[in-house]
Amino acid sequence: MTGTPASSTRRGFLRAGLAAGVALPAGATLARAQAAPDPLITEVQDWARYSGDGVDETPYGLPIRFEADVIRRNVPWLTADTISSINFTPIHALDGTITPAGCAFERHHSGAIELAKPDYRLMINGLVERPLVFSYDDLERFPRRQGVYFCECAANTGMEWAGAQLNGSQFTHGMIHNMEYVGVALRTLLAEAGVKPEGKWVYVEGADASSNGRSIPLDKAMDDVMVAFKANGEALRKEHGYPARLVVPGWEGNLWVKWLRRIEVTDAPVESREETSKYTDTLANGVSRQWTWVMDAKSVVTAPSPQVAIRHGPGPLVITGLAWSGRGAITRVDVSVDGGRNWTTARLAQPGVPMAVTRFYLDHLWDGEEMLLQSRAVDETGYVQPTKAALRDIRGENSIYHNNGIQTWWIKKDGTAENVEIS
Ligand code: MTE
Ligand code: CO
Repeated sequence: MTGTPASSTRRGFLRAGLAAGVALPAGATLARAQAAPDPLITEVQDWARYSGDGVDETPYGLPIRFEADVIRRNVPWLTADTISSINFTPIHALDGTITPAGCAFERHHSGAIELAKPDYRLMINGLVERPLVFSYDDLERFPRRQGVYFCECAANTGMEWAGAQLNGSQFTHGMIHNMEYVGVALRTLLAEAGVKPEGKWVYVEGADASSNGRSIPLDKAMDDVMVAFKANGEALRKEHGYPARLVVPGWEGNLWVKWLRRIEVTDAPVESREETSKYTDTLANGVSRQWTWVMDAKSVVTAPSPQVAIRHGPGPLVITGLAWSGRGAITRVDVSVDGGRNWTTARLAQPGVPMAVTRFYLDHLWDGEEMLLQSRAVDETGYVQPTKAALRDIRGENSIYHNNGIQTWWIKKDGTAENVEIS
């Protein structure tokens, strides 16, 4: 399934907007008495007349068919093939904070491999007292940890550096998922092997052809990094690294090595492909920043947005979105409907969880006029999400990675929306 350019869907949105366009005076109640009898109420419907499916019909359930468009999508022009590729989480259609595994974005450098538990081996070698190899069953015998964390590809929003480009939060901000992980702390496994005093880094790699090798400073490895084997309560999906992947809270997705097969303790970073020619940020003067691991605070309004038109007239409108920071918990999200001139503090659905996604809501009374809708996240370090202009002043426009600038959606009177930038 591929992404639809916004222009071809805009007419559909417009029609839906007109059909449902019952204008409500501001503050009017949303429920109302029907003048004519409603057959959905007065007639016995098939679902009340006949039995539904038996419990043996769906041993493992998929979403109901009416939700068939809540799926991962890719951007065909972005990657040459679907093997070394990426697809995007339909964040515009989700609510709450946990990403269902079935639609959580995938990023592979050489495709999603199928690695059975009996064939799984995890080696720890290099500057350790005892080089070790763990089987999958070995991993399950170590004390476990649990935590909810976001995984954001450093390239998320990367296509927007040069200007507003993709029409939909799925495409501009959908290289992120947020799941509950269970696994073993990496420090537990490293302690089993015994890190030598000269050990300052770990080099982690996967079992796939790309191996996606990355260097991680030992301090981080000994802090909150996990070797995870469960996500959202169940085994990792194949595409997310079954049977075990690295979880590196708050740090760029590229470090979250899937199908994890080896951890080498080293005294220096390896300077692999993924941390030299890729995943570095080239500045305006041509110099590249390296080791930019942490994902800075960021947010986006997921609805209304280009894929989620407003389908009613003036009156109560739920504005909602996501905020996250790799430096800790989100403490505040502000929303602007006038392109950043005035800001209103949104309601956080629950207090921010460190290095996890936070849901925000703004219960807005829409006057039916155009809006330039923005959100701005603040994290517990006091860091404030920058405007795109402020970001470009410092970082130039040569970058691909780490674009956390404020996003603007132009909401039109008919309820449709477009990705724009305001200068
Ligand atoms: N690990 C391996 N072994 N191979 C890969 O191609 N891609 C990385 C990382 N780990 C990759 C990998 C990148 S760039 C990202 S953003 C995350 O996995 C994506 O994780 P996901 O596929 O669960 O979304
Ligand atoms: Co990535």
